[in-house]
Amino acid sequence: MALLKILHYPDPLLHTVAKPVAEVNDEIRQLAADMAETMYAAPGIGLAATQINRHIRMLVVDISDDKNRLLTLINPQILLKEGEAVREEGCLSVPGVYDKVTRAEHIRVRATNLAGESFELDAQGLLAVCIQHEIDHLDGKVFVEYLSRLKQARIKHKLTKQAREAM
Ligand code: NI
Repeated sequence: MALLKILHYPDPLLHTVAKPVAEVNDEIRQLAADMAETMYAAPGIGLAATQINRHIRMLVVDISDDKNRLLTLINPQILLKEGEAVREEGCLSVPGVYDKVTRAEHIRVRATNLAGESFELDAQGLLAVCIQHEIDHLDGKVFVEYLSRLKQARIKHKLTKQAREAM
């Protein structure tokens, strides 16, 4: 197992559109395990492969308090979106920034699991938000892009400064 480096906004690599996973093999399973370890260590409740600079369609989420309900979604596809919910979001790629985003309250997702089997999942509330947020990453979108241009500019400035100071 290994901890992976997480890309930070405004790194342009975060805007890469990820490609589908062609085959669920041991390399993919190892990467999923490393992503889960990285997410738990951060700590966070979701991580997309895009964020660790691997541009394939895979994400991990675990919103449980006990960190024992890990979900790995490969090639996730949203089949249905219902309702609207506003929730404060954060992101391991945008440290220290939290803001409200409007998303669907309920979603149905089809994905492939680590055994290579297709499954469907109904999610609502925080889990639905989290999955939508991570799928956005696979499409090259970071949650701050839902905010006003002024807020985005401020966040970019703040994080660029932080990155410079950390060097
Ligand atoms: Ni994120």
